[in-house]
Amino acid sequence: MSSHSSPTPLAARASQALRGRISIPGDKSISHRALIFGLLSVGETQITRLLEGDDVLRTAAAVKALGATVEHTGEGAWTVRGVGIGGLVQPAEVLDFGNAGTGSRLMMGVVGSHPITTTIDGDASLRKRPMRRILDPLEMMGATVVAEEPGGRCPITLRGAAEMIPITYQTPVPSAQIKSAVLLAGLNAPGTTTVIEQEASRDHTERMLRHFGAEVVVEPHGTHGRRVSLTGQPELHAASVAVPADPSSAAFPLVAALVVPGSEVVLEGVMANPLRTGLVTTLLEMGADITLRDRRADGGEEVADLDVRFSALKGVDVPAERAPSMIDEYPILAVAAAFASGETRMRGLAELRVKESDRLAAVADGLAAAGIKARIEGDDLIVEGTGGTGAGVRGGGTAATHLDHRIAMAFLVLGLGAKEGMAIDDAGMIATSFPSFIPLMRRLGADLG
Ligand code: S3P
Repeated sequence: MSSHSSPTPLAARASQALRGRISIPGDKSISHRALIFGLLSVGETQITRLLEGDDVLRTAAAVKALGATVEHTGEGAWTVRGVGIGGLVQPAEVLDFGNAGTGSRLMMGVVGSHPITTTIDGDASLRKRPMRRILDPLEMMGATVVAEEPGGRCPITLRGAAEMIPITYQTPVPSAQIKSAVLLAGLNAPGTTTVIEQEASRDHTERMLRHFGAEVVVEPHGTHGRRVSLTGQPELHAASVAVPADPSSAAFPLVAALVVPGSEVVLEGVMANPLRTGLVTTLLEMGADITLRDRRADGGEEVADLDVRFSALKGVDVPAERAPSMIDEYPILAVAAAFASGETRMRGLAELRVKESDRLAAVADGLAAAGIKARIEGDDLIVEGTGGTGAGVRGGGTAATHLDHRIAMAFLVLGLGAKEGMAIDDAGMIATSFPSFIPLMRRLGADLG
């Protein structure tokens, strides 16, 4: 696990056509969940293709600190012998989640539903992120927040009740992290815990609950929402999990291939869960040449190979209700929009302000540094494309990454297609979600260094 000390600047230069086939590492959301379900089940959970990025390794360490036996048996291969629901031990030390919002928030649901006292902390980025959205429902369920920084920030010390109370909870924003924290807490509450969301967010927790033997009912709610009900205190049984490739990581070589002239790239076995494919939908609307080939089931999810070719993109209007299915992809979509002809408007992006960085501001500032006109209107981001009859993306600046892996990768991709390339102030955080990003991109022909 790397601690983040001195920044490592990196530059991307205008590159030759990107060519080749690559496999993207495992999905971050599923990797965190596989370890957590391993902890909460009885028996030996075998995980393959686990994402071995810093964020997920922090969750593995936390799972161990809570009493599970965690073994790394080969590349991406991990075994977890869990303690079962109710069997967590009091951790001896603070659980440090580094940069990981997902790991920290999901784990609050787990530890906050057990009668143990746990402190959860992270890096400077995580310490800025709002955690009241998790603490509020946990308090309703009987947990006590022993200590928190102002505004519900980490470090946070939580204590669960001996008997938790099942609740019906409507999430204030569409967030799989909030939904998952409540459902995970509901595992240790008698009766039915229900989460209602106005807009459906990624459903990996629901799928995994079933896979490990819990009873979950999912019903539609309104036009785009869902109502998820879990029967508490099941006995979860160890299961095997094969983690499919992360579409949020695939997004970077995908857009790189679209914006570097002459490129032709195949991305193998990328998860195509419909709650994660908003970026592909949007890029297809923009005129991208992407073919989803050999759709198949893998590890309880649908996957496909993506054939991607350099494309003339055009600007589009991205509706707010699509945001949950591409929430992590807006930085790289904004980069694609810079290369498109015409304007792209991305609506309803308030949640981007509370990600690993304020991504609305970081994207707008980085685009400005690259000579792209972009503006924020309310919660919308508008990018003026330079394609078509435009002069193309100039680049040549340095993007400030604010401890944000996706800002780092997005602006490196911009540099590969820009006339003057693009630099970033720090590439260190890329290891949180996509540790092989630089070697894989170089293998395709990207000029990074
Ligand atoms: C995630 C949910 C999303 C996403 C994050 C991963 C998850 O966050 O941004 O990278 O695995 O549940 P929110 O649920 O807060 O939108």
